[in-house]
Amino acid sequence: MLVLAVPSVNPRMGTARFSLIRTLADGQVHSAERIGRALGLSGIEVDELATRADALGVRVLKAGSGYRLDEPLDLYDAKLLAERVKGECPVLRLEVLDECHSTNTVLAERAKAGAAHGTVLVCEYQSAGRGRRGKSWISEIGGSVALSVLWRFPHGAAKLAGLSLAVAVGVATALEKLGARGVAVKWPNDLFCGDGKLGGILIETTGDTSGPIAGIIGIGINTRLRPAARERIGRPAADFFANGPVMPSRTAVVAGVLSSVVFALELFSREGFAPFRQAWLDRHAWQGKRVVLSQTDHRVAEGKVVGIAEDGALELASDRGTRRFHDGELSLSLESMVE
Ligand code: BTN
Repeated sequence: MLVLAVPSVNPRMGTARFSLIRTLADGQVHSAERIGRALGLSGIEVDELATRADALGVRVLKAGSGYRLDEPLDLYDAKLLAERVKGECPVLRLEVLDECHSTNTVLAERAKAGAAHGTVLVCEYQSAGRGRRGKSWISEIGGSVALSVLWRFPHGAAKLAGLSLAVAVGVATALEKLGARGVAVKWPNDLFCGDGKLGGILIETTGDTSGPIAGIIGIGINTRLRPAARERIGRPAADFFANGPVMPSRTAVVAGVLSSVVFALELFSREGFAPFRQAWLDRHAWQGKRVVLSQTDHRVAEGKVVGIAEDGALELASDRGTRRFHDGELSLSLESMVE
């Protein structure tokens, strides 16, 4: 397993910080002496690490002469995940990172350096996740999923219209199979549950826009958000935990999502968005609603959502007729929320 140190952190301590969290993930008390011995650190260094774990949103508590977490953490079972991915999606090459700034950024760098089609980065803790339109994406250690898939398309960017919608159908289907209820999609790249955002998709490309192109397909899903993470997100957020009868492990969520997304990417590569259109509409959160479409806070259009075209364009009806809008830097809001 590759461990990336967070910039500006002493590499040895950066690696050790995550090792400490992994040791304590079971929620049991672990003696300071044994932790120090296992990590090759002094008592003072272990204490410093425990304090620094707070920066990752993890609370390490002193317990007698040892430490424990305030509650157990659901970390990945990397071996089990590798086995499932190998069996279910042999096209993928999976790597589980402990920490990184953004799986999309790291994978884009690797893609430029020639990484193989199907390379997947899954990260335990993403410190500077990115969303669409320059927004940040907040991840919760043990309580969310952050992953990116490198998919090389033989054709140029023009044929990628609707890709984020097809991936959204793939992710929604996987979450439903795992038991999530009420998963909906919102144009162009959001997953919703009730009024809260459950997940998002960020697709970036590298390469010649008219020739073969590499897509970095970034997927973020909230599995079990704690109050502190909700506060940092600062807008209504949903998680799997509140919307399913049984909470699967994050390992099971990633395995299920990857399998469904690979199926979607293979189908999309052959046939484009058309075969996903009905499945997308079946889960459409805002069908028939009045909405406002904007670009960097500037109102571009408003009207009633009629549906989605075969290429994934949003169809809006207004007194100017029905118009189609393609994904770009556009964002959609309910009219009732902006007026
Ligand atoms: C959005 O809703 O605006 C898209 C959010 C995408 C977040 C994921 S998490 C994994 C990958 N790495 C990133 O930095 N972003 C995407």
